[in-house]
Amino acid sequence: MSTLKSKPHKAFLARIKERVRLNPGSEKETYHIVLDLEGSGIEYSVGDCVGVYPENNPSYVNILVDALGDPSMHDFLLKSANLNRIPKKLLGEHPDLLTLIKYQKFDPDHLREKLLPLLPRFYSIASSKKHVPNEVHLTVTVSKNPCDFPVANGICSDYLCHQAPLLKPVIPIFIQPSRHFSLPPESENSPIIMVGPGTGVAPFRGFMQERKHPKNWLFFGERSEQNDYYYRSFWEDLVAKNLLRVDCAFSRDQSEKIYVQDKMLQNSAQLWQWLEEGAYLFVCGDASKMAKDVDKTLHYIVEHEGKKTSEDAKAYIKNLKKLKRYLRDVY
Ligand SMILES: Cc1cc2nc3c(=O)[nH]c(=O)nc-3n(C[C@H](O)[C@H](O)[C@H](O)COP(=O)(O)OP(=O)(O)OC[C@H]3O[C@@H](n4cnc5c(N)ncnc54)[C@H](O)[C@@H]3O)c2cc1C
Ligand SMILES: NC(=O)c1ccc[n+]([C@@H]2O[C@H](COP(=O)([O-])OP(=O)(O)OC[C@H]3O[C@@H](n4cnc5c(N)ncnc54)[C@H](OP(=O)(O)O)[C@@H]3O)[C@@H](O)[C@H]2O)c1
Repeated sequence: MSTLKSKPHKAFLARIKERVRLNPGSEKETYHIVLDLEGSGIEYSVGDCVGVYPENNPSYVNILVDALGDPSMHDFLLKSANLNRIPKKLLGEHPDLLTLIKYQKFDPDHLREKLLPLLPRFYSIASSKKHVPNEVHLTVTVSKNPCDFPVANGICSDYLCHQAPLLKPVIPIFIQPSRHFSLPPESENSPIIMVGPGTGVAPFRGFMQERKHPKNWLFFGERSEQNDYYYRSFWEDLVAKNLLRVDCAFSRDQSEKIYVQDKMLQNSAQLWQWLEEGAYLFVCGDASKMAKDVDKTLHYIVEHEGKKTSEDAKAYIKNLKKLKRYLRDVY
């Protein structure tokens, strides 16, 4: 087993077995990535995340090393410094690190000290170990930097989707167990409702690989049905077997936006019925807007379908959380 002990987490050097674009033709780039865990002894549960130690864009690193004229800085710049966020204090009047290096003579130790560390990024696990014992699957969208600057993409998503070599055991990973987001054993006998737009759908693929209970409902959202319906055949196969209901919100397929919470609202009577039957509700994906809007919609549905005052609806949802029947993994 190959491990990397110098990192704060003991990392396993995984191999990318498969990297497939999930949305050819889309403006977005999202990949299904299969990491090989063979020989690692790694255990994980659905709902957990994988931590990945990335590398910076190698071409940009080479440009910086040339400008510094110091090859001994190569590995540090590649693996240990965040080259996407340079502290303002270090840059001073200069617009970026390259200009700074070109116009100011640098002591390498000073640079090592002042650059921010390159920290691991987290990705929801999109598989069940019971289903694929020696693999862990991820769903990764390439994050775009503003104005393609200093490089086009975010560090780790670019590393996983573009730079990391296929089939070589060089990707340092570890499992970040989830303390709050999982399929509780009690949910085995209950319906579940999953709300996962975008990459938020990832953990629900893992959930559905191990669910035995036949009553499952997914709300998925993305930009367009033609390009962005991640894992479509997997969901449709489950629907055909009567193991899943799916409602999709393709936000850009019509002139007005349609989001997952609109689909929840359109189906509010049934959604309320499922909750009253003891359903578990899971929400995963964007924290900044989606999760808040879904939460507001949930309050509206409980209030109106449950014929409650807004205070009673709040108390009902608070109780769902207490019972661990309303679980969120938002980022
Ligand atoms: C629990 C959890 C689960 C997650 N699950 C997934 C998942 O399943 N799939 C997935 O794709 N992602 C997931 N993420 C997000 C993922 O961890 C990363 O945050 C994401 O891939 C971006 O990381 P990066 O290294 O590519 O980008 P970074 O280099 O960290 O940059 C991120 C973004 O910050 C902005 N930015 C960077 N520099 C600047 C600047 N100088 N000025 C202004 N803005 C700037 C840009 O928009 C940039 O693209 C999850 C996050 C968490 C916390
Ligand atoms: N850098 C950015 O500008 C930006 C923007 C959003 C999310 N993010 C981050 O990207 C990650 C997840 O993004 P992703 O690409 O997988 O998916 P996403 O950006 O969350 O998009 C998935 C779907 O959700 C829709 N959406 C947008 N606002 C919503 C809202 N308020 N409520 C419900 N649905 C909404 C999107 O529609 P439309 O896009 O058509 O509006 C799209 O159809 C997260 O880390 C998130 O924080 C970054």
